[in-house]
Amino acid sequence: MIQQNPAGPRPHYKPVAQLKDAETFRAYAASLRLDLPIDDVVEPAPGGPLAQPYTLAAKVPHGGTPAGPARVIGNRFCILPMEGWDGTPDGLPTELTERRWRNFGLSGAKLIFGGEAAAVRHEGRANPRQLMMIPETMKGMESLRRALAEAHAERFGETADLVIGLQLTHSGRFCRPDDNKKPEPKIAYHHPLLDRLFGISPDFPLITDGELEGLIGDFVKAGTLAGELGFDFVDVKACHGYLGHELLSAFSRPGPYGGNLRNRSRFMREIIRGLKRDAPALRIGVRLSAFDFPPFRPDAPGGTGRCLHGPEDGEYPYAFGADPENPQTVSLGEVFELIGMLRDLGTELVCVTAGSPYYNPHIQRPALFPPSDGYAPPEDPLAGVARQMRVTSEIKAEFPDLAVIGSAYTYLQEWLPHAAQRSVREGRTDFAGLGRMVLSYPGLPEDVLAGRPLNRKRICRTLSECTTAPRKGLVSGCYPLDPFYRDRTVRRPQT
Ligand SMILES: Cc1cc2nc3c(=O)[nH]c(=O)nc-3n(C[C@H](O)[C@H](O)[C@H](O)COP(=O)(O)O)c2cc1C
Repeated sequence: MIQQNPAGPRPHYKPVAQLKDAETFRAYAASLRLDLPIDDVVEPAPGGPLAQPYTLAAKVPHGGTPAGPARVIGNRFCILPMEGWDGTPDGLPTELTERRWRNFGLSGAKLIFGGEAAAVRHEGRANPRQLMMIPETMKGMESLRRALAEAHAERFGETADLVIGLQLTHSGRFCRPDDNKKPEPKIAYHHPLLDRLFGISPDFPLITDGELEGLIGDFVKAGTLAGELGFDFVDVKACHGYLGHELLSAFSRPGPYGGNLRNRSRFMREIIRGLKRDAPALRIGVRLSAFDFPPFRPDAPGGTGRCLHGPEDGEYPYAFGADPENPQTVSLGEVFELIGMLRDLGTELVCVTAGSPYYNPHIQRPALFPPSDGYAPPEDPLAGVARQMRVTSEIKAEFPDLAVIGSAYTYLQEWLPHAAQRSVREGRTDFAGLGRMVLSYPGLPEDVLAGRPLNRKRICRTLSECTTAPRKGLVSGCYPLDPFYRDRTVRRPQT
């Protein structure tokens, strides 16, 4: 096992496994003043809310493009993108990557929101093992999609109601294309705190407007290739501090990609416009950090997370989706404006996430145990879950016609199906997205839909080893609970 950070857990956060019945769960959530509605009983297929299909509307014809048929997504479970840091140096999948994608197919979820981040060019990779979607990797990416679909067909008999996307990325400030230990950042603007934390000097050059134009072309090319390989949609990634997300807070950047929201969203909008032009049959999704907070760091080695921006520091105009005067408060005005613009350009699916794993992981993937480069949680992790669920429901209420996917349910553990069902039943989200839980317990959606009790031995307890492993240069997987990783001598992937 990977060495735990000695800091967590904090004793006053009750482990979810101790919340033995719905009343106890509700009472604990109420004691924390959290809005975390759950159903008492989870209903299986075919009648249960999580088993209901969702229909993506038929594509309207435009220009010379014929109409596309409606697509039915067979249930309300969605697999969130989850990298394994296990591709080849050339950006191709390995057998480890394929195993993970097969597990996504075997899960029973009918929406695959991107599989994992695939860079649109080498320099934009977050690590030297990240997949790439470029002409040279087409065969590998096609085999990955096929492996997922075949595994699904073997278990569930059909794939007509399985919808698979590919997440496209450029890692911006967090590029490490050649060496895990060697950052090669591309920054949209100088961010006083992130520059300091990640060692970027004040005279470090910004990515140029010309480079951004070239990159827009790369995203469009990558999306077009993904469409040719049979992916149903691409996710134009705008989350977690990577380039598409960083540009959304580039208030101080001069020129056409900074300043007002139209400029800050130009990169996203031009990619989507290009995809509509060059790959009209492809559907478009966006994974969005719908809110962000300032960076957090431990208050002492192994200690609790502390926000690096205090009230005495004045305004904080760097967190998209937060109030600059009170930057730990979500503010969705611009977020709604952005989603409206992206919807008008043809975006059909929005996957809601938050913050960044590099500088405020507790709002992004709430966990009781921090990863090696993290900090003990500064709030009960259930607060992080509730925050993402609330923001998701506000986005769904504002955009009833978009397919909205919520994230960060894993920390709910035993109560995940109960909360997911309640949210879907009440229209607070269309889909419940599963991240870490699917690494430890890929069969959870199938078990829930079949009305089987959960296998408690496979429930993710948020030990964060899936995040710690890659920080230490290892492939990612569920070391504590997936026997494949638990029993495996950890070694670098075969290339
Ligand atoms: C090991 C690991 C890899 C991840 N890789 C990606 C990724 O490639 N793209 C992405 O958008 N999010 C990625 N995420 C974030 C998850 O998709 C998800 O938002 C997060 O884990 C919270 O959901 P959960 O509570 O179900 O785990 C990753 C998370 C983990 C733990």
